[in-house]
Amino acid sequence: MLNADRTDPALLRELIAGELLAARERTAQLTGAVDDAELVAQHSPLMSPLVWDLAHIGNQEELWLLRNVGGRDPMHPEIDPLYDAFEHPRAERPRLPLLPPAEARAYAHEVRGRVLDLLAASPLEGAPLLDAGFAFGMIAQHEQQHDETMLITHQLRSGPAVLDAPPPPAATGAPLAPEVLVPAGPFTMGTDTEPWALDNERPAHRVDLPAFWLDTAPVSNGAYRRFVADGGYDEPRWWTPEGWAHRMSAGLEAPLFWQHDGGQWLRRRFGHLEPVPDEEPVLHVSWYEADAYARWAGRRLPTEAEWEKAARHDPVSGRSRRFPWGDAAPGPEHANLGQRHLRPAPVGAYPEGESPYGVRQLIGDVWEWTSSDFTGYPGFAAWPYREYSEVFFGPEYKVLRGGSFAVAPVACRGTFRNWDYPVRRQIFSGFRTARDAEPRTEG
Ligand SMILES: [Fe+2]
Repeated sequence: MLNADRTDPALLRELIAGELLAARERTAQLTGAVDDAELVAQHSPLMSPLVWDLAHIGNQEELWLLRNVGGRDPMHPEIDPLYDAFEHPRAERPRLPLLPPAEARAYAHEVRGRVLDLLAASPLEGAPLLDAGFAFGMIAQHEQQHDETMLITHQLRSGPAVLDAPPPPAATGAPLAPEVLVPAGPFTMGTDTEPWALDNERPAHRVDLPAFWLDTAPVSNGAYRRFVADGGYDEPRWWTPEGWAHRMSAGLEAPLFWQHDGGQWLRRRFGHLEPVPDEEPVLHVSWYEADAYARWAGRRLPTEAEWEKAARHDPVSGRSRRFPWGDAAPGPEHANLGQRHLRPAPVGAYPEGESPYGVRQLIGDVWEWTSSDFTGYPGFAAWPYREYSEVFFGPEYKVLRGGSFAVAPVACRGTFRNWDYPVRRQIFSGFRTARDAEPRTEG
């Protein structure tokens, strides 16, 4: 996937059709795992009913591919406002006259059939939306992003487990050094060449960074448990004023889905209650919690630029690569992506996914909070619509990097940027920490 020659239209059509199919198979799995009553129910006020995501996927595909690329008329203009994410906040969506499950499925299926006809006849060049199949790639990523959203809904849902997957690979080899030095110097951040990169990943630009140390792997549950046991949630000095106010008002005491039971910590994971595994990266923490942990540990969150340099910069060639391991598309040996496993892999897994600096698990496992606000790069231009990224730029959103076990390879790369509010923790979020190198480089 994505290693194919994109200059050959037949191969590109095949690649696009494969990505659209993979997304739809995952959508079918996530919406087929529960009955119709659960599809229309709202499992959390933070989330849409699953049936909304299903028809919204079809509606965006119709809008971008059939109408904007294909020039077709709307199939059902009366339903467009129902599935416009900007018109109705998630909490309101259950009260809308949504398409029932069978009709939502039929609609998405009919759109897809027409899209495959359009794809077969498309030159895949000659217009910005068509070049390298961009709009098709954007729609495949969009569906996979909603599949991740639907997986979050599954995690928030109560009731017996309905999803299953084998465990991820174990950590291998000698124990890792706790941190890695990334020397000072410039690197290329963002991209001009990644064909399906979204507007906020562009343009490529040089960023010069001082030297820093970065955790070799994401912070583990075991390490985070020590922060909890040390009274980390009771000490305002570790928190920003906003973070402490939120910790108090929301009553935070541990990561979301953790519960204390008879002297041990348990977690609920897709309907299973199980002991918190110390060796896995911590999951379901807010930016405020990640930031407080880092201060308690005498460290800080990395900036977004530091994360990307550690993930992409090749000190030998001086070039930025697509992924930590090089330019090859992610395989199961590189990273825990694509919902193959329903949990992060233990810290130290995926040696073949290591970056040139020796940093592990940058891609996959858990989204990693950075200290950076979500903003446009120098020379940013909104494309193909302002609502994709630009309307979210500002200090109220923090950037997350690297993707989680729930992110599909098509929607993940070294330049990919996610953003969310610092209070959010139902997302598959973890973090790693950093520190400046200057005071202790030769220590
Ligand atoms: Fe969407």
